[in-house]
Amino acid sequence: MCGIVGYIGKENALPILINGLKKLEYRGYDSAGVCVMHKNNFSLVKEKGKIENLEQTLLHSNILGNVGIAHTRWATHGEPSQLNAHPHLDCKGRLAIVHNGIVENYSALKELLQKEGHIIISQTDSEIIAHLIEKFYLPTGALAEANDGDMEIATIKALKLIEGAYALAIIDKNTNNILVAKKSSPLVIGVGDEETFLASDASAIVAYTKKVIYLDDNEIASLTQNGYSIKNINGELIDKKIIEIAMTVDQIEKGGFRHFMLKEIFQQPEAIENTLRGRLALGTVKLNLQFDVSLIKRIIIIACGTSWHSGLIGKYIIEKFSGIPVEVDYASEFRYRNPIVRQDDLVIAISQSGETADTLAALKEAKLRGAKTLGIINVVGSTISREVDSGIYLHAGPEIGVASTKAFTCQITALLLLSLYLQQIKKPIDNTILVELKNIPEKIKEVLAQSDEIKKIAEIFKDSKNFLYLGRNLNFPVALEGALKLKEISYIHAEGYPAAEMKHGPIALIDEHMPVVFIAPQDEIYNKILSNMEEIKARGGNIIAIINKRDTKIEKLAKYIIKVPESINELSPLINIIPLQLLAYYIADLKGLSVDKPRNLAKSVTVE
Ligand code: G6P
Repeated sequence: MCGIVGYIGKENALPILINGLKKLEYRGYDSAGVCVMHKNNFSLVKEKGKIENLEQTLLHSNILGNVGIAHTRWATHGEPSQLNAHPHLDCKGRLAIVHNGIVENYSALKELLQKEGHIIISQTDSEIIAHLIEKFYLPTGALAEANDGDMEIATIKALKLIEGAYALAIIDKNTNNILVAKKSSPLVIGVGDEETFLASDASAIVAYTKKVIYLDDNEIASLTQNGYSIKNINGELIDKKIIEIAMTVDQIEKGGFRHFMLKEIFQQPEAIENTLRGRLALGTVKLNLQFDVSLIKRIIIIACGTSWHSGLIGKYIIEKFSGIPVEVDYASEFRYRNPIVRQDDLVIAISQSGETADTLAALKEAKLRGAKTLGIINVVGSTISREVDSGIYLHAGPEIGVASTKAFTCQITALLLLSLYLQQIKKPIDNTILVELKNIPEKIKEVLAQSDEIKKIAEIFKDSKNFLYLGRNLNFPVALEGALKLKEISYIHAEGYPAAEMKHGPIALIDEHMPVVFIAPQDEIYNKILSNMEEIKARGGNIIAIINKRDTKIEKLAKYIIKVPESINELSPLINIIPLQLLAYYIADLKGLSVDKPRNLAKSVTVE
C-alpha cells in the first residue's frame, strides 16, 4: 500500500526521502515520486516502477533543498504510470501533495472542481485533494471564498469535504513548513534535532530518530525544522505525547539472508520466544487485559489473509482450553452483514500490521455494538492497537516480506497464551503444555535444519501448475496457509482443503500432474488421513507428506517425505507450517520471482 515520507530540517532532503521510501518498499507499490522545495521552487520527479527507476532519473538532477515529500504509490484509481504517481500539484503548481488512502467521493468532487475550472490531469482520486485545497486557498472559481490565504484553514475545509481515508502531506511554495493530516490511514511524525520527519510508519525514519508521535484520526499538524504543532479538525491546538520507539535499523535489514522472507522464516524460534517472554510464570499465563474475562460468553475473531488462518486455529485452541464458543469471520464480511454482537462478546482483531482497513472497520463496528475488544497485533502503536480495549503484542519484530510468516506463528502463540489464560480462571493449566510451548522454538530449529531437503522437493515441483494442500482438524487451517503462501509468491494455483472433504470435489482434479501436500501428524485422526492418502495414491497423485519423525506407515504411501518433530496436538501447527513456508519460498525463488514483493500484493492493505 502507498508509503509516505517527508523531511524538513537542516540536511539535504532528497537522500533522506529516498532512503525512507526504500524502507517502505515492503508495503507494496508500483510507482514512486518526490518533490523537494528550494527557495520557493519545487523540483518534482516521478517514475513508474521501482524506486531504482526514480533514482536513475534523479542521478544527474542535482536537486537541493531542505524540505520535501515523497511517495510510493500502489494503484487504486488509475493505472500505475508516471502521470498517476505522486506528488500531485494544484493548477498553479503552488501546492504539492502526497496521499495514502482512498477518496471515496472523488467523482463528485472531481465534477465540482472541473466545473469551477480546475484542470485535473491524472486519473487518481488523490490529485483531487490538491485542487480542493487550492479551491479554498487561492480563489479560482465562483464558489471560492475570500480570505483563503491560510493553507491550514484551506486544508481543514478541504478535509471536511473528503469521504474516505487519508494520510496526507502538503508543501506550499510560499510557506516553509509541511502540513500533515490523517484519517484511517497511518501517519507518524519523527522529532529530531532541528529536523522533523513524517512517514507512513516508523521504519522509514528510525535511522534518524526514535522519538515519534502517532497522529490520530482527524488531526492535522504543521511541521517545521524546529518542531510541530498539532490541531484537531476544528483547528484547536492539542497536546500529544512523544513516544520513544525500540525498533533498530538492524531489525529492518536482511542480515545476510537472500530475502526478507527467508530471514523471517528463520527468525521464528526467536520471534516465538519473544511472544512468550514474561508471559509464562509458575504454571500460569500472565496477560494484561483491561476487562473481566470471566464475563465473556462468546468470542468472535475478525481478520484477513494469513491472520484469518491463525484465527481459524485460534477457534480450535480457545474452544478446547477455555470451553468458550468461538466464531471466525473475514473482517470484510463481518462489517457488512449486520452481525449479531452482544455486550458479553469478546471480539478479537488479529492483524500483523494493525492497519488493515477491513479489520479496522470490522473492529469499529463491533465496538459500536458494545462488544469488548482485544487486538493481537505486531506493529506497536498501529491504528488497531490503539483502537482496542486490550491487546497482546506479538513482539515478532518488523515483518518486511509481503507474505506473512513469523507473524503467523507468533499469532498462534499469542492465541495459545490467551486460551490458557481463559482456562486458568476455571481450572489450573496442564503443565505439560507450558513445558512444550517452551520447547517449540527448538523443534522449529530442527525443521529449519532440513531446508536443503525441502529445496530439493521444490526443484522437482517448481513447474507444476496446481497444488492441493490437505489437512484435518487444526492442520486444516495449516493447509490453507500453506496454499496461500504458494499462491502469493510463486503464482501457482493452490488450494487448501479439509482432507476428508477432498472426495466431494477436488478429487476430480487428481492425476499424475497434481502434487498433493498432506499435513499428517500422528494425532487421533491419523488413520483417517491414511485413508485419504490411499485415495490420492490410487489416482496417481504425487504425495508430499509432512509427517512425524517416528511415523513409518506414510513412507510407503508418499513419494516425498518431510519429517518434523512430534508435539502436543494443539501446538503442532507451529511446527507443521514451517516446511510449507520453506517449500513456497524455494519454489518462488527457483522460478526467479520477486519473493519479498510479489506482484499485485501489498503488505499493509489500508484500503477496502
Ligand atoms: C495483506 C498481506 C497478507 C496479510 C493480510 C492481512 O493481504 O499481503 O500477508 O495476511 O494483508 O494483514 P494484517 O496486517 O491485518 O495481518
